[in-house]
Amino acid sequence: MKPLVYLTMNVPEEVEKYIAQYCQIRKWDQEETIPRERLLAEIGEAEGLLTTGGRIDDELFDHAPKLKVVSNVSVGYNNFDLEAMKRRKIIGTHTPGVLDETVADLAFALMLAAARRVPELDKMVKAGQWKNTNDRSFFGVDVHGKRLGIIGMGRIGEAIARRARFGFNMDVLYYNRNRKPDAEQRLEATYCTLEELLRQADFVVLVVPLTPETRHLMGREQFALMKRTAIFVNVSRGKNVDEQALIEALQQGQILAAGLDVFAEEPTPADNPLLQMDNVVTLPHIGSATAETRAAMAMLAAKNLVAGVTGQVPEHIVPELR
Ligand code: DGY
Repeated sequence: MKPLVYLTMNVPEEVEKYIAQYCQIRKWDQEETIPRERLLAEIGEAEGLLTTGGRIDDELFDHAPKLKVVSNVSVGYNNFDLEAMKRRKIIGTHTPGVLDETVADLAFALMLAAARRVPELDKMVKAGQWKNTNDRSFFGVDVHGKRLGIIGMGRIGEAIARRARFGFNMDVLYYNRNRKPDAEQRLEATYCTLEELLRQADFVVLVVPLTPETRHLMGREQFALMKRTAIFVNVSRGKNVDEQALIEALQQGQILAAGLDVFAEEPTPADNPLLQMDNVVTLPHIGSATAETRAAMAMLAAKNLVAGVTGQVPEHIVPELR
């Protein structure tokens, strides 16, 4: 009999067909996120779980005694309780590689939108408030030729650096756990400390995974180091930032603007002060959300899932569980 797998989301038809060749499928087919209680009630005999975002921990494993593999449809896996997975010998996989260029595009979209005040001026035009094209209050700041600081020079960081250096003629600084001399050569990027980066950059883009070490990497002290004219962009995880410190930095004019794809709590509460600020561009965590990239991620996750439940070694086991 084919092993049972549970999908907490809709996937493209060809992906579902691929999984169905090897597995019996149970799935949550609603657009909204599956409620935790529902997942706990339904996972039962499943040997594999294909999911994104929800907590993968002992409570879930207690409800899924046959579970062998959890396949995340994302590159980030901060939803995994890695210790619990190690203890229970559960395979955890993710989808690196296929989303790098798409997330880099979005980082640039946020840089450009915040610098040129795109959402704010779009609102103005639609409200019939466009009276004088020379109005200085419409002015933004340039992106091309400025200095970009990339915090986290992984694959996505490199894709951002390439756009910045060779598309926008930017001077690229980066900070990373390990120095990457070959990336420095290829991308004409300069390694520096976090402090130097924050002091010197006109745009700061945060693109590190969320781990105990990176939680609140950007706090009061870090925002205070940034230029008053600088723009902060986060395409990583909201919890990498002390959100209250960011709010205060923006309120006090310590930085010029921000572009945020991610928030400490998601969806972010309607009363989050960041949502009231014209100099903050907000998005609902859509870094990888294009039709092409999400389809590629779903297929990669499906292959990891099938491998895990059919006794093979999935290609993309997360590093801590290899
Ligand atoms: C990822 O893949 O980690 C993106 O942030 C989508 O969750």
